[in-house]
Amino acid sequence: MCGIIGYVGGRDVPSVLLGGLWRLEYRGYDSSGIAVISNSELVVRKVPGKLSELEELIKRKHVSGTIGIGHTRWATHGLPQENNTHPLVDCNEEIALVVNGIIENYLALKDELEAKGHIFRSLTDSEVIVHLIEENRSRGLAEAVKLAVKKLTGNFAFAVISINDRNKLVCARHDAPLICCYNSKEAAVASDISGVISIFDEVIYIPNDSIVVLQKGKCIITNFQGRTIKAPVHQVTIDVQDIDKGRFPHFMLKEIYEQPKVLHSIVSERIAGDGIRLGSELGISDAELKKVSRIVIQACGTSWHAGLIGKYIIEKFARIHTEVDISSEFRYRDAVFDSDTLVMAISQSGETADTIAGLREAKVKFLKALSLVNVLQSSIHRESDGIIEIMAGPEIGVASTKAYTAEIVNLHFLALYLGLLRGFVSRADLAEHLAALEELPGQVEQVIKLDSEIREIAKIFCNSRDFLFLGRGLNYATALEGALKLKEISYINATGYAAGEMKHGPIAMIDNKMPIVCVNPRTSVYEKMLNNIQEAVARKGIPISIVTRGDRRTRGISAYSVSIPECHECVSPVLSVIPLQLLAYHIATLKGLDVDRPRNLAKSVTVE
Ligand code: G6P
Repeated sequence: MCGIIGYVGGRDVPSVLLGGLWRLEYRGYDSSGIAVISNSELVVRKVPGKLSELEELIKRKHVSGTIGIGHTRWATHGLPQENNTHPLVDCNEEIALVVNGIIENYLALKDELEAKGHIFRSLTDSEVIVHLIEENRSRGLAEAVKLAVKKLTGNFAFAVISINDRNKLVCARHDAPLICCYNSKEAAVASDISGVISIFDEVIYIPNDSIVVLQKGKCIITNFQGRTIKAPVHQVTIDVQDIDKGRFPHFMLKEIYEQPKVLHSIVSERIAGDGIRLGSELGISDAELKKVSRIVIQACGTSWHAGLIGKYIIEKFARIHTEVDISSEFRYRDAVFDSDTLVMAISQSGETADTIAGLREAKVKFLKALSLVNVLQSSIHRESDGIIEIMAGPEIGVASTKAYTAEIVNLHFLALYLGLLRGFVSRADLAEHLAALEELPGQVEQVIKLDSEIREIAKIFCNSRDFLFLGRGLNYATALEGALKLKEISYINATGYAAGEMKHGPIAMIDNKMPIVCVNPRTSVYEKMLNNIQEAVARKGIPISIVTRGDRRTRGISAYSVSIPECHECVSPVLSVIPLQLLAYHIATLKGLDVDRPRNLAKSVTVE
């Protein structure tokens, strides 16, 4: 969850490290620091709090050098305070280390190292690594790292520098992401491409379980046993502008507004004449897909919500029994499979620890794994048999928006594809769905135009203590997602519920102060949902409804409503969620909260 960066070369090292940390900040932002080798001395600057505070510190106490590492942290072990902030140093302050991951056996290692006289300064699990490296420092940095990784269990990616090996950046990874870049003049390592995007146009995705020694013009990769590995060099395809806020005050708002464009490109890519193209990396033949008797979707957070919609539409179009699991449950559930089960991971980042573990669980059982993933070359991409690219472009806002709607639309195409293969979707059905999908980006644009109307509603409710979100059918997931968005960035207690289940508990919470967001576009469960809204009204709740344009009945019983265009039921979750994304955004900004850096969260959850 932390962001790490390292650089060796002729540029101003602190500026390169800070620039990278700003772009990696979405991975964690409770404390940050850098270490630079300056005139044979290791200089560390670190602060708890926001990255801007580190920037201020570096301005006040500038440091220069030709090699350095940096870190932005999401605390797991130890509070976000200075001693726990990375870079962490060895006893003699000659070696500095930045880590992303969790060292599971750190207590045993710490006891061993303390018995040998090592002094620990932090409560982090990571500090053992720098002391392990220190133990073998006389053998050179690369060899010391090789010996250290052999002792570690858990998952990690780290970068280390030493004043005794001052032209080398040494890094290692095991089950946590890491990339590197180099040319004749400079070299860098980072948690992902965004850390180095402004400098390099080629990147190496460091293979799992390997150690990299980086120097200007040189990059040597070996596995943990010491055998040299060749890793392909890829062209960097994302642009600085893709990861820039542009004219928007926040990434979240920018990404909400990007949805018409994103959906348009997905629809154009996936529709091939009168058929469907799921991409060149599907990795599973039509014959194999025809045989699938069961699909298990596993994902976390917003991606899990997309999975819930996937279940509805895959079962509807392809008549394949589909279940959806939260990855952290799935991985320990000892689920029952048969050989025709297809496992699907859905992940924007492709690096969510629990989702990766769920995927591996499937692979151990020899099941086929087809994943939906946004970040190409991520762990989930590399470890799946095949992928469908989500095509949302880089998503930086911690609260996922465009990746969610992009996931839903891709699942829609997959469900139709499977339905066609299995003979449950006719050519006429397909034409109807493709027309609905083609119309969708324009309709999303119309909903985004309601932004100021939604902000007015946000003004009325921004001081509410609790919210209830209700939906049914496909839009049950919309209710869950709307509640999650609000919780994540406004810290308001928001409960998402299946409206039909409301009377089994949540109805007790309703009083005349309770805003209830009711997702009721015109779908097959419209009348049922209308009844549920009536039940809430009868308890004096305040319905804020998402309705189809022209729906006077839902409007009539609601205190406030937002109208979305008439649409096919299957695309209604995409249109209905946009007002909820905007509502959460405006409530949070009206409360003066930092929507791109919500407290305690991180975009990429690479720890269990
Ligand atoms: C974190 C993020 C969520 C995201 C979830 C799953 O909790 O804050 O926005 O939905 O991880 O992430 P993934 O990258 O696997 O979709």
